[in-house]
Amino acid sequence: MSEFDLAASSNTRPATRRMAVVLPRICRRLCLVLMAALVAGPVMADVQQADFDSIQLYTLKNSSGMEVSVTNFGAIITSIKVPDRDGKFDDVALGYDSVDKYINAVDKPYFGAVVGRYGNRIAEGTFKLDGQTYTLAKNNPPNHLHGGIIGFDKVVWNAETKSTDRGDAVVLRYTAKDMEEGYPGKLDVTVTYTLTNDNEIIIDYHATTTKATPVNLTQHTYFNLKGEGRGTILDHELLINAKRFTPVDETLIPTGELAPVSGTPFDFTEAKAIGRDIGQEHQQLKFGLGYDHNFVLDREGKGMALAARVHEPISGRVLEVTTTEPGVQFYCGNFLDGRLTGKSGQPYVHRGGFCLETQHFPDSPNQPEFPSTILRPGKAYETTTKWKFTVKE
Ligand code: GLA
Repeated sequence: MSEFDLAASSNTRPATRRMAVVLPRICRRLCLVLMAALVAGPVMADVQQADFDSIQLYTLKNSSGMEVSVTNFGAIITSIKVPDRDGKFDDVALGYDSVDKYINAVDKPYFGAVVGRYGNRIAEGTFKLDGQTYTLAKNNPPNHLHGGIIGFDKVVWNAETKSTDRGDAVVLRYTAKDMEEGYPGKLDVTVTYTLTNDNEIIIDYHATTTKATPVNLTQHTYFNLKGEGRGTILDHELLINAKRFTPVDETLIPTGELAPVSGTPFDFTEAKAIGRDIGQEHQQLKFGLGYDHNFVLDREGKGMALAARVHEPISGRVLEVTTTEPGVQFYCGNFLDGRLTGKSGQPYVHRGGFCLETQHFPDSPNQPEFPSTILRPGKAYETTTKWKFTVKE
């Protein structure tokens, strides 16, 4: 087996499983990347060789045979195997068969990763908090994206597995230093992935801080419900539980407006094929190169609410996303262009996967009208998102 060969390790052993790996070559390469980053930024993640020696793969399997694999590098979900309407299992999450590929492609697609400390964009990489101005990396010029140069998707997390009443779980922990990537406060983060016997993946996020700081954690899995690498997702039928969305400028920063979706290509209040209106002449579709927008979820109060439901007609697979978050970024793989080859050897074509990133709205630290993303000492950041997989006959 090659270094961290995820494909070779996905056997059918039941329940939770751990696998140690050795990564000398990868570490050397990554260390070079990290050293370059160290020269560029203020405080960076403190990455030690020992951390990379501890990268592992964990596979959860439930009573109906559904399997989810997770690595503690970037808290990445590397595969999700779910049945179609005939009971045939396919892997519906885009990703790679080796950690080497995740490391070398990390700054591009964020396949399967937890992104943070602030998922999505912060305008011009700067924000003011309690009278002080903070400067972040403009890693998506002219803006800051997904936590910066070494965001939570590129660090090694501590991981453990546990059995709970809801199902087996992988618990991942990471402590970001005060001023890491320019953000104030030492942030202790825990992300728990639980696989239930009802074919649900529950993602619980928890964080505490030593200083006031923006926090917006999300999960960046790209789905293709036909199976990863099987063409585009344009024929998937999508419903988004949102009558409004947050239009953006040409750099994908919200203008501040909560605009109605009605009468626009952004109306997914009734299920329609993702590709149906994507080619329409619409300035927002031009800015996003397709859909890459935050939707304002229709919800009553706090608690879990429907974010989106996706149905793929050929396999019959359905994914339902519920969340405690106020928004969801619907991104349909506009930046994929066939150059990245996935774990089954197939190219990831343009719009070959979609993401439903449950979140607070982009650029909230600079937009006082948006729900606040500021976490203060003594308070806990707690959010939950659930992905439920079913089939439609
Ligand atoms: C998010 C962003 C997109 C893109 C992807 C990663 O979804 O909104 O613009 O950066 O991440 O490619």
